[in-house]
Formats: sequence, C-alpha cells, structure tokens
Amino acid sequence: MTLRFSDDGKVAHLTNGSVSYVIEVVLGRYLAHRYFGPAIRHWDGTGVVPPRKRGFALELIGGTVGEYCDDFPAECPVPDVGDYRLPQLVVRGSKLGVTHCEPAFESWEELPEKPELCGLPSTRAAAGEATTLHVTLLDAELGVRVHLLYTLFDGQDVMARSMRVENCGTQELEVLDAQSLSLELPAKGYDVLTLYGRHECEANISRVPIRHGIQTSESTEGLSSPQHHPFMALLDPDATVDAGEVVAVHLFYSGSHVERCEQDEYGNVRLQAGINPRTFSWRLAPGSSFQTPEAILCHSDEGLSGMAQAFHWLYREHLMPARWAHRQRPVLFNSWEAMYYDTTYDKIEAQAKLAASMGAELYALDDGWFRWDASSNTAMGDWTCNPRKFPGGIDSVEQLVHGLGMRFGLWFEPEVISRRSHLFERHPDWALQVPGYEARVGRHTYLLDMGRPDVQDYLIETLDCWLAGHAIDYVKWDMNRTMSDSFSAMLPPERQGELQHRHILGTYRVLREVTRRHPDVLFEGCSSGGGRFDPGILAYVGQNWTSDNTDAADRTRIQWGYGLLYPPVAMGAHVSIVPNHQTGRTISLDTRFQVARQLNLGYELDVTKLTDEERDEIADQIAAYKADRAWMAEADLRLLATPNDNYVMWESVAPDRSRAMVMVFQRERSVLDAQGRFQLRGLDEASDYRIEETGQVAGGDTLARVGICVPLMQDDYEAVTYHLLRV
Ligand code: GLA
Repeated sequence: MTLRFSDDGKVAHLTNGSVSYVIEVVLGRYLAHRYFGPAIRHWDGTGVVPPRKRGFALELIGGTVGEYCDDFPAECPVPDVGDYRLPQLVVRGSKLGVTHCEPAFESWEELPEKPELCGLPSTRAAAGEATTLHVTLLDAELGVRVHLLYTLFDGQDVMARSMRVENCGTQELEVLDAQSLSLELPAKGYDVLTLYGRHECEANISRVPIRHGIQTSESTEGLSSPQHHPFMALLDPDATVDAGEVVAVHLFYSGSHVERCEQDEYGNVRLQAGINPRTFSWRLAPGSSFQTPEAILCHSDEGLSGMAQAFHWLYREHLMPARWAHRQRPVLFNSWEAMYYDTTYDKIEAQAKLAASMGAELYALDDGWFRWDASSNTAMGDWTCNPRKFPGGIDSVEQLVHGLGMRFGLWFEPEVISRRSHLFERHPDWALQVPGYEARVGRHTYLLDMGRPDVQDYLIETLDCWLAGHAIDYVKWDMNRTMSDSFSAMLPPERQGELQHRHILGTYRVLREVTRRHPDVLFEGCSSGGGRFDPGILAYVGQNWTSDNTDAADRTRIQWGYGLLYPPVAMGAHVSIVPNHQTGRTISLDTRFQVARQLNLGYELDVTKLTDEERDEIADQIAAYKADRAWMAEADLRLLATPNDNYVMWESVAPDRSRAMVMVFQRERSVLDAQGRFQLRGLDEASDYRIEETGQVAGGDTLARVGICVPLMQDDYEAVTYHLLRV
C-alpha cells in the first residue's frame, strides 16, 4: 500500500495495488479530483479535460482562458465560486453573514494511523492495515480550515472518507451543510441504485438511469430509516450481479442523511453522502471543530457481488465489535410473536422449557416485561419489571432460563419515553416537544432528548445497572420512533438546528458506553425491524434484527437487499408461525427454516401450540444448523445471478473454499421450472465438489462456468439447500 506525492508536490496518489485515488493541486490553490478506480502505476495527466473556450462560464482565478469553475472537478466543492453543482461544504461567517468560503489547498501528509472520529463510529485499522492521507484546505479570510481524511485499506477496494471543519479564525461560524465526501466521476452513462422500503418491507432495490440534474435518497426522520438506506451506488448501465463497474457509497450515520448525485450539463457526475442539511445546522465558535460521519467508498469491477464482498470484508474486519465478527451465535427463541406484550412468568416458563428441549441456546424476553398491562401504552423509560407479571422479578426468569441450560436475553427501547411512565412524571422536559404545541406520540411514546447529557447518563446508569446486576447475556436494543416535535429545552434558540445531530451523538455515547462496559453481552440492534440498520449501529452491536417481516418469501428479498452490504453474521432471521402474522401467507416449516438458516437463526413463535411432529422437525432443524454453524460464521456470502425473478439464490462459501452451502428459493411453481442454470461463485476451480443432497460430483470450474440446473420443486414458496464438499 502506498501514498505517493509527485516530485513537484502537486499530485497525491493513494493506492493499495488494487485501486487508486488521485488528487492534484491546480494553480497552487484548487484541489482537483483526478481519478478513483482500478489501480494505475502513476498518474500521467491523460484524463484531464483540456481547456476549451466557451461563453457563460466563470474562470478559475489565475487560470488560462478556457479553465472554468463550472466543470472543475473540485475535491471539496463550495458554493458562490462559479461551481453551481452540489457543494460539499456550506459555511456562513457571522461578520458578513454570507456563505462565501474559499478553502484553498494548504498541506497534505500521510498519517501513521487511522484517527478515530470524535464521538462517531468509524472503521478501525491497526498499523500496516491501512494508509491515511490527511489534506488541509484553508480560507484564512473566513477562518476555516478543512481537514479531509482518506483511508485506503490493505486488501479490498474500499476507502473511508470524512471531513472536519475547524474554526481557526476569530468570528463565529455556522455550518449549514457538511457532506462526508464528494466524488467526481467522468462523463458517461450510469445507473443509480439505492435501497428503499418501509416497516416490514426493507431493503428493496431501486435502479434507474442517471439523468441531468440531482437525484437524492434521503431521510429526515432522525434515524437512518427503512425508507431510504444511507447508501447509493452508481453502476455501469450494463453492470450485473457479478460483472461490470460499480462505485458505491455507504454512510456511517444513524440519523437523517442524504446521498445525492448530480449529472451536470457536460455529463460529469458528482456523488456525495452526509448528514442531511435539511435538518441540520451547527454553530462553530472560534477554536472548535465539526466532524462529519465517516463514509465508505467502494469500487467494484465485479458487479454488485464484488461490491458486497468488499463491504462484508470491511465491516467484519474493521467495523463490527471484533469479538462478534466471526463468532457463532446461539440459537435464539424470542417471546415477541409468541405472546407480544402479554408476557408472564408462567407463559415464559412453558415456552422456555419446550425451547430448551428442542435445542435452543438463548431465550430472549422481548417487550412486555415492564409494562403496566398487556398493551404498549405504558412504562417506557422506567425499565422496572412488573411484579404482577413476574412475581420473582427478572431474576426468576433469568434463573429459569439459565437452569434450562440456555442463555438469557432481555428487550429494551432506551431512547423513548411513554407518556404514562414515572420517568415522564419526573422529567417531562426530557421528552422532545415544542413549547406551545401538543407533541405527537408514536406507540404512546415521545422521543427522549438524547442530546442532553443528563438523559444520556440516566440511560447509561440504568442499563449498566441491569447488566451489572443480572446475568443477562443478550440485549435487544430497540428504537421504534421517528423524530418529530424537535425542540430541546437544553439548547438556546440559535442552536436548535443542532438538535438532530446532537441526538445521534448522544445515542452513540450511550451505545458506546454500555457496550464498552459489557463486552460479553451480545447486543442486537433493532428499529421496528431494519428501521435503523446502518453501519453506524453495527460499530457497536454484534448483529441487527433485519425486519419485523418474518414471512420467508418476503425475507428472501429483504435478506438479499441487505446482503448487498452486510455479512450474514451481522443479521438475525427467525422462523415464525403460519399463517404468517405480517402477510397471512402459509409457507412450509422446511422453507421457513431454509431461509432463516442463512443468517443467525432464531425462532419466534408460540411453541406450546406446535404439534409434536413440528417440535421434532424444529429440533432436527436446529441440529442441522448447529452442524454448519462453525464454518458458516466465517463464510463469505456470494450473491448469485438468477435465471429469472422467480428464484432467489444465496451461496455461502467457507474461507478455505472447502465447502459451500447454496439455497435456491422458488416463488411460484412455474412452467419455467428447471429451465435455467445458475453459476456458483467463490469455489476452488481446481478442485471437485460433491453435492451432498444429490451425490453428484462436479469440478469447481464446471460449477462456476456451466453452473447447475435449478432444482425441480413441486410447490410455491419452496426452497432447496445444497451442501457442497470439496472431495
Ligand atoms: C419492534 C421490534 C419487534 C419487537 C417489538 C416489541 O417492533 O422490531 O421485534 O421487539 O418492537 O415492541
């Protein structure tokens, strides 16, 4: 891995031998983007658009005729300087009250290690695992120094980017927009791929051609949201699952965000990601700094699957808590769909005993244990066990579950407060609400003002007390409320624009502190399913609940969408009852298992209502899951191209390529059955593999090039799993 500066000091070239990133100082002041893509040996300037004379454009200061501002490939674009495209940074000075800012190149250096970003989640890298370029730009008149960080990792085509804005002058500044990165891409056609959705329907793929103008994907909800995942990819229009060029950005942020691209009148494209400026502003006193979240840039020459591989690798090796990134997960039974809010000791006892007899290893008591009744109306924020439901307290459940040889888990939703709670009686000002207006409720709750240090301290101490004082092995950390009524009693009027970001910083502090104090507890992030599933959260938790939709057919699509970004070990999937509670669909127990076993397996159903045969089948499923679990926890997920949309295919390959597991899911029994082939990926092409279910032996090269036929399946919503073993 190298960072090279040209002899004349004008060009910086960061490369890991696989990908290159090149920037150049132009006319002694402008920082130009030159290249991001497959590695080159050196930058020779052949890609620089030559000066050409045209009307109606402003010239670069100090440039020659024909060098203009409006198509200059700015590495850190700002407004009001003749570049009318999306800015990365908008700052207003208090002296003049204008947003004119001209950060000019000041310096660059290689950093010995990757710096942590103050208060924000970011990738980690030990010495030798990454190279970081630190560039500073300075507007001495305004008193703004911009710090740009570029970290290239050894091994994959991913780069971490972020920006810090420092007030190095004497006047107060207001940051109105600070994107984590801005990337210039050459003029050509692209498709724009984003993930959109809603509750119970996360991670759908939107792929549309780029057009002139701006295309955005954004959340203003105060959370990353299922509506618009903080991710955007620009693809070659011909790119497929396993071929073609993809440039993608994924933002490490759990609050309101924006990903946007703009194609200008010449066809050039600018791609950005960052905090959403629609719900953000930040006052910057002299001497202080504003740090943006980190964003990851990825370049793939192998289509979406290549992109997925790069993200999976990065998140496992450099983002997720290290102790969970490769660790086998216990088979989980969860009380939610079994009894919803109506939890009692007796019910849990009946469930837990049966779960243990089937091979469960972790029993999680979900919502309900602290509620005043069997509804969602009360008690969020108090976090005291209801003694009418659990006369022996949580200790009795914990002892019961541990006595059955399982680990014990408990559900919390720390960031909200019920209108009917003791906490709200004591601290009504801890809830977000605008004076003079009635605040909205969502599931009878308000959002806590997470930017307040006293609220953060209360949550840290409350959760710490629970985890230190009880033998809790797993916590489901839920968050089911979008942001509204945004006023903080702690902030002066001129700082209310900071509320959303302070809220997220406060949430991160609580998450960071609680997970740091209890590293052995497995935390599962959740937000009405995948409502706040983002890399920011993944920096603290071992896994995330993928969706409240447990229907196996819908799950194949949702899991595929998230599989573009997250490794299976970071996601949970549960087998639930039929007819399914979300869709009403009935799918066989076998298919429900085939789909759930691809991720961290759980069961979420009333086991007392199952027949003996069903319980036996589940016991067999759990045994089969455990047989594969050790290598599956390390496996690489390979997204496979399908012959048509009737099928979803999912392949996991052991790191040493000695084995693989392939699931083929069929939506409908159709006349297309078995008319298609699919090719496997990631196998050792020089070896032969036996498909255990069919006994067939085939070469890794044959499986990769010829592929195998779609298996014949008799019913709608059927799945077949193949185990491949190197012979
Ligand atoms: C959210 C979660 C569910 C469950 C409920 C409990 O909806 O996504 O899994 O925990 O909250 O209220």
